[in-house]
Amino acid sequence: MEETQNLEMAKADIQSIVSNSEVIYEYSDNFVNKVICGDSLSVMKKMPDKSIDLVVTSPPYNLKNSTGNGMKANTTSGKWAGNALQNGYSHYNDNIPNDEYAQWQYNCLKEMYRLIKDDGAIFYNHKWRVQDGLIQDRKDIIRDLPVRQIIIWKRKGGINFNPGYFLPTYEVIYLIPKPNFKLAPKANAYGDVWEFMQEMKNEHPAPFPVALIERIISSTTSKIVMDPFFGSGTTAIVAMALNRQYVGIELSPDYCKMALARIERNKIKSEVVTNKTALLF
Ligand SMILES: C[S@@+](CC[C@H](N)C(=O)[O-])C[C@H]1O[C@@H](n2cnc3c(N)ncnc32)[C@H](O)[C@@H]1O
Repeated sequence: MEETQNLEMAKADIQSIVSNSEVIYEYSDNFVNKVICGDSLSVMKKMPDKSIDLVVTSPPYNLKNSTGNGMKANTTSGKWAGNALQNGYSHYNDNIPNDEYAQWQYNCLKEMYRLIKDDGAIFYNHKWRVQDGLIQDRKDIIRDLPVRQIIIWKRKGGINFNPGYFLPTYEVIYLIPKPNFKLAPKANAYGDVWEFMQEMKNEHPAPFPVALIERIISSTTSKIVMDPFFGSGTTAIVAMALNRQYVGIELSPDYCKMALARIERNKIKSEVVTNKTALLF
């Protein structure tokens, strides 16, 4: 009951910042250039096959599921000190048993794969970690999906006060394409280790850096780009700057609101400093 009331309040709040119907709460066939406020798996299940060119996404990492070295709320020392995700997401606790988490993410990836066209691709960002002495290299999520390449995103920034660990500085991006996917001309020269600063100026606890998403989208000739874990809407604001269309799915009404306000701001002044070659498509 309280949740319904919260959603109704969030809807009213959201409608006060967007003048048109850019946000939807139920699936509709008219999903292009929309923020869909709901559960990504249920929404994707309703979408038609091959309706998207590119998926760019970073799911919740299940970081609060821990055997000792994981993230705890309000930590002021140790590996997770100062991490913006300590208190989790607004409407998702990021803490489920690992098997359940891997199954959920695999189901999501299968839907994303169904939704991309024969020349489409998924760029799926995740993090490898060691938990309880076991390597979590996310094979349990990826399973039979056709990974073509793993890109290393070398992050700068971050602080680590734990003397037992080297400062973690990388994440991975799985390129999972359909067979006919090709990069945009010359994009292959970027190589497979990309260095981008972590995003600092964003209220969302785990936003993509704008430049990272610009690298991904501009490396493709995609027209419709979807992010099923949309957060603050970085994928949309880059898609808009590169003259592509977007579809965003986000569970939290607070982050939907944050993303919609950001999209409105970007219509007036884009955050993306576009590189001219990226605009060839
Ligand atoms: C790592 S963040 C994505 C941040 C985003 N890339 C950005 O630039 O702001 C993951 C997002 O997934 C959302 N989320 C969690 N469970 C979800 C679900 N079942 N359906 C849709 N979104 C979900 C969280 O609320 C969070 O905003």
